[in-house]
Amino acid sequence: MKKKIVVFSGAGISAESGIQTFRDNGGLWENHNIEEVATFEAWTKNKELVLNFYNQRRKQIMNSFPNDAHKMIAELEKTFEVQVITQNIDDLHERAGSSNVLHLHGEIMKARSTLNPQKIYPLFNWELRVGDKCEYGSQLRPHIVWFGEAVPEMDRACKLTETADFFITIGTSLNVYPAANLIHVAKREITKFLIDPGDIKVSHINNLTVIKSKAVDGMKIISQKLTELN
Ligand code: APR
Repeated sequence: MKKKIVVFSGAGISAESGIQTFRDNGGLWENHNIEEVATFEAWTKNKELVLNFYNQRRKQIMNSFPNDAHKMIAELEKTFEVQVITQNIDDLHERAGSSNVLHLHGEIMKARSTLNPQKIYPLFNWELRVGDKCEYGSQLRPHIVWFGEAVPEMDRACKLTETADFFITIGTSLNVYPAANLIHVAKREITKFLIDPGDIKVSHINNLTVIKSKAVDGMKIISQKLTELN
């Protein structure tokens, strides 16, 4: 039976694909106010502003491509069972070939009914506008988990993490909860890696190797190590 790797990714994995992170210098939250674009209150106040913010994100993502870090994670499926749990709303893991991707914070290439949250629609165009409606006639919103909203996939993410044989966290500042808790959910005894060029504060994590590199360089090191450990 193949051993199971859980990869927990954040904005940093897509940085080398040209997609801005949130909290680095020049990151998205430096030029946009979270309260104005990424909360339910913002949506209630100004739908057009919120839709435009996500339209710009969607346009950028549609014009980007998976990088070698995404691809190396997909490649691991040849040897391991691989579950990606991502905080990212982009679809670069899927486009790189990963088969099992759980999006904790939603997906930019989908829209959701504001009347029935179960009704989720794929988007093929970069633009979602005021007046675009679901089958019940209510406005569509981006399929994104906004600040202050529940994270419906968190339970599933915890269950998947509990059964991991290896845990990799890559390109996340571990600032946003509950997602950042996953590293604590992984079993104590398993081998864990953290790849990030920044100084990430983690404490009391057993068996953790920190690789202070960008995603692509870090994944080259990890792929090699995992092959040796398998
Ligand atoms: N390779 C790997 N990591 C990188 C790279 C790179 N080339 N460039 C930057 N990073 C790292 C940064 O050092 C930082 O630790 O990526 C991390 C990005 O952190 P954040 O911008 O905070 O992004 P993330 O952790 O994914 O944010 C979590 O916050 O705003 C919300 O919902 C949004 O899902 C997002 C959540």
